[in-house]
Amino acid sequence: RHSFPTVVAIDGPAGSGKSSVSRAAARRLGFAYLDTGAAYRALAWHVLDHKVDTESADAVKAALADFDYSIGTDPDEYFVLVGETDVTDAIRSPAVSAAVSAVARVPEVRTHLTWLFQNLANNVDRPGVVVEGRDITTVVAPDADVRILLTASEEARMARRSAEITTQSAETVADQLRSRDRADSQVVDFMSAADGVTTVDSTHLDLEQTITAVIDVIHTRTARA
Ligand code: DC
Repeated sequence: RHSFPTVVAIDGPAGSGKSSVSRAAARRLGFAYLDTGAAYRALAWHVLDHKVDTESADAVKAALADFDYSIGTDPDEYFVLVGETDVTDAIRSPAVSAAVSAVARVPEVRTHLTWLFQNLANNVDRPGVVVEGRDITTVVAPDADVRILLTASEEARMARRSAEITTQSAETVADQLRSRDRADSQVVDFMSAADGVTTVDSTHLDLEQTITAVIDVIHTRTARA
C-alpha cells in the first residue's frame, strides 16, 4: 500500500473555493496537486486555437489526437502547457470558460482525460495527491482514501467569482457561471455528495476556515484507514 500515494478527491462547483483550498491543503500536507478542470480548459484552448467548432463532438474528438498537454503537480509551481505554449493564464479567459463545457461533454474526451488523471495521480513523487474537479469522487478516483464535496450557496459562489473577475460586471459573471453550471451538471452531478463522500459547506467560512475544515476531514479519514 505504501507504494501508492494517499489520494484526496475533491469535487465541487465553480466558486466553491475548490481550487484555492485544494492547492493550499496539498501544500500544507506536502502532497501533489492535480487540477483536472485545467486539463479540460487546456483542451478547450487547443480546440479554439485550431479553430475547431466546439459544438461538433466529432471535430473535438479529432482535435484530441494531437492534444499534447502537461500540467504541474507541485502546488508551489503550478503551470499548464499545450505543446510548447504556456497557457496557464490563457485558460482562464472568458472565451475558454464559454467553450469548455461543450468540450467536456464529449464522452471520448472524458475517457481519455480520466485515464491521464489516474496515471498522473498514481505517479506523483509525494506521499499523497489532492485531485480536484467535478467527477473525482465518483469517476476518476472513486476508491480515494478521502472524498470531499466542497459546496457553497449560489449567492456566495457568485460573489466570490465576481470578486475574482474584475474585468466584467457582476451580472455578466453570474450569468456565465449559471449557464456553465447548468451545462456541466448535465454531464456530472457535482452538487450532491455520492455515498461515502463528506460534504464541506464553505458558505459561511472564509478561505482559511475552509482549508482547516478540509484538512480536518483528511486527517480524520486517513487516521481511520
Ligand atoms: O473547475 P473549472 O471551472 O476550472 O473546470 C472547467 C470545466 O471543466 C468545467 O466547466 C467543467 C469541466 N470539468 C469536468 O467536466 N470534469 C472535471 N473533473 C473537471 C472539470
